[in-house]
Amino acid sequence: MCGIIGYTGDGDHVMDVLLTGLSGLEYRGYDSAGVAISEPERTAETEPASSRAGVASTPAEPSAVAGDVTVHKREGELAALEDALPDGSVDGAAGIGHTRWSTHGPPSDANAHPHTDCSGHVAVVHNGIIENYEELREELAADGHAFESDTDTEVVPHLLERELARGADPEAAFRTAVSRLAGSYAVAAVVAGDETVYAARHESPLVLGVGGDGHFLASDVPAFIEYTDRVIYLDDGEFATVTPTGVRIADERGNTLETSVETISWDPEDAGKSGYDHYMLKEINEQPEAIRDCLRERVEELSGSVSVSELDDVSLVRGSATDGDSTGRLRPVQFVACGTSYHAALYGARLLRERGVPAQSFLASEYTTDRVPVSAETVAVGVTQSGETADTLRALREANRAGAETIALTNVVGSSAARECDHVTYVRAGPEIGVAATKTFASQQVALAMLAAALTDGGSQALVESLRAIPDGIQRVLDETNARAVAREFVDSDAFFFIGRGYDAPVAMEGALKMKEITYRHAEGFAAGELKHGPLALVTEETPVFATMTDSQSGGDGLSKILGNVREVEARGAPVVAVTDQPEAVGGSADHVLEVPSVGPAFTPILANVQLQLVSYWVANELGRSIDKPRNLAKSVTVE
Ligand code: M6R
Repeated sequence: MCGIIGYTGDGDHVMDVLLTGLSGLEYRGYDSAGVAISEPERTAETEPASSRAGVASTPAEPSAVAGDVTVHKREGELAALEDALPDGSVDGAAGIGHTRWSTHGPPSDANAHPHTDCSGHVAVVHNGIIENYEELREELAADGHAFESDTDTEVVPHLLERELARGADPEAAFRTAVSRLAGSYAVAAVVAGDETVYAARHESPLVLGVGGDGHFLASDVPAFIEYTDRVIYLDDGEFATVTPTGVRIADERGNTLETSVETISWDPEDAGKSGYDHYMLKEINEQPEAIRDCLRERVEELSGSVSVSELDDVSLVRGSATDGDSTGRLRPVQFVACGTSYHAALYGARLLRERGVPAQSFLASEYTTDRVPVSAETVAVGVTQSGETADTLRALREANRAGAETIALTNVVGSSAARECDHVTYVRAGPEIGVAATKTFASQQVALAMLAAALTDGGSQALVESLRAIPDGIQRVLDETNARAVAREFVDSDAFFFIGRGYDAPVAMEGALKMKEITYRHAEGFAAGELKHGPLALVTEETPVFATMTDSQSGGDGLSKILGNVREVEARGAPVVAVTDQPEAVGGSADHVLEVPSVGPAFTPILANVQLQLVSYWVANELGRSIDKPRNLAKSVTVE
C-alpha cells in the first residue's frame, strides 16, 4: 500500500501541491517519498549535463535532472524529502508524487518512487503490485534497458519509453505500457515537456480532483481536499488523461467514457481518515484491499499452488538444517508473538499441525530456551506487525542463539525482526495507525495460511479458491453487517464472553481483546470447551456471549459441541450472539445472528472476526471512547 498524487495546473505551485498531497497520504506509507515534475521545454544551453535519472549525493542539487523531468526522492518520511529539496526547486507544468510502503526491495533512495526510464524523460509512480515484473524486466533488459532499483514499478517507465521510441504519442504509449501489466496498480506518469498526467487503475484506488486552478489525481481524497471537493472515482480498467484545463476518462481502447463528478462533504481536518470517524473503522474497511495485496504473486489459480518466494530456502524436512540424514519426520516449528499477533500465531500453528508439522505457539514473553527445547532442527517464526515488539525480538534472538532457523512474519519492511531473522515474509497490510490491530490480524492469518501451504504440500485448488474468496467475503460482511445494531443492544453490559472451537477459538480470543482494549469493558475469550471449567460461574443474564460457530468446526463434531456450550450459557439467562455462516443450523439457538459467507473450512473465521471487530468498534463509539488511542496502550511495545 502506497500513496500517489498527481497535479497539473498552476505552474508556480506544482511542488507545493505535491508535498501537501503527500502529507495527506502518509497514512498509506512512510518509508520513502519522492516527486517528479515535468518542466516546460528547455533550450539546449540550459539543458542539464546529466540525462539519466538517479539520486544525487548532495541535497543541494535536485536528486536527478532527467532531461525535462526533475526527480527528487529520499528514503524515510516525507520530512526527509522536504529537507533534501533545494531552495527554489524547479517548478513545472505537471507533477507526480509518491509515499511508499515497501513490498519489493527495502526502503532506500533508489527504491523510492518516482522511477524513470533510461533517457530520464519519463517518470512513474505506482501503488499496487506488478505480478509479471520479472518477466517484463528480462524482456526489457534484453532490449538494452538498464534498471536501477529492486522495485516491480521500474518496468513501467521503460515500457513507456519503448512505446515512445516506436513513435506512439504519450497517451497511446501509456495505454500500451499499462496493457502489459498483470497484478494491481494505480499508476501515474509524466513525460518530459508535456503538461499532462497519465493515469490508470486496476484493483488499487485512484480518484481525480476537479479544481479551479488545475486538476488532481490521488490514491485518496485527503491528498487534494484542501484544493477541491469535486471528485471522480476511477473504476478498474479506466484511464485518465489529466491536463490543466480538463480531465478525460477512457477505456482500455481509448474510447472516451461518460463520468459523473461527486461533491464530498468531509471536513479537511478529518480527511486523513477518508471520511471515517476513526482510523480503526477505516482500517477495518481496508481489509479486502490488504488481503488482495497479501495474496498477490503467491497464489496460482490454475495450478492451485501457493508459493512464497521469500521462504524458498526453508525446508521443513528433518535433516535439511543439519546435514543429517532425513528421517522423514518434519522439523518442529515454534511461533513466538504477543497480543493480536499471538492469536494469529495460534491460528498458524493449528494450520501447520493439520499438515503433520509439530507446531506450537508461545507468548513471546514466556518463551525461554532453557524451558523450551530448541535445536538447529527448530524453525522459530516471529509473528509481529511492527517487527519491533521487544518481547518478540528477545524470543527470536534467544531461539537464534540456540541454533534455530528464524523467520519474521511482519508488516514492516526493514524492521528489526525483518533485519535480524534468517528469512522474512511480509503481510503487506499497509500502515496501521489505530492502536487496535485489525487489518494486520486478517493479513497475518492469510500470510500464515500461505506459509503453512508453501512449507508443506504447496497448496491445492480448494485452498487457492478459498484464499481468493476471502476479500470479497469480507466486503460482503462490511456491506451487510448488522454489528452496529447488536452493539447498541449491549452497550450497557459490563462484561462480555467470546467462545469458539477449532479455528474459531483464536478468533474468540481476539474478539475479547478488541472489546477490552477499546471499550474498557471486561471481556474474556477462550475455547468454548473451557466454559464449564470455570468461566461459567460468571455467566448471568447480564453477560452477552458471542459464539463464533463456522464451518471450520463442521468437519468433526465441533458444531454440535459448541451448540451444547451455547445451551449451557442460555440456561444461565445469558444473551447469545451467533457469528456464523450457518444461520439455519445455529440461528435458532441465538438471540442475534451476525452472518458471514462461507469461504471454506479454516478461513471463514477470518470473516467472523470482522463482525467482532465491528461490534467492539460500535460499542466503543457509543461509549465515546478514544478508539484510535485507547488509554494506557501504545501501537508498538518496545520494552519487555
Ligand atoms: O507489532 P506486534 O504485532 O508485535 O504487536 C504485538 C501486540 O502489541 C499487538 O498485537 C497488540 O496486541 C494489538 N495492537 C492489540 O490490538
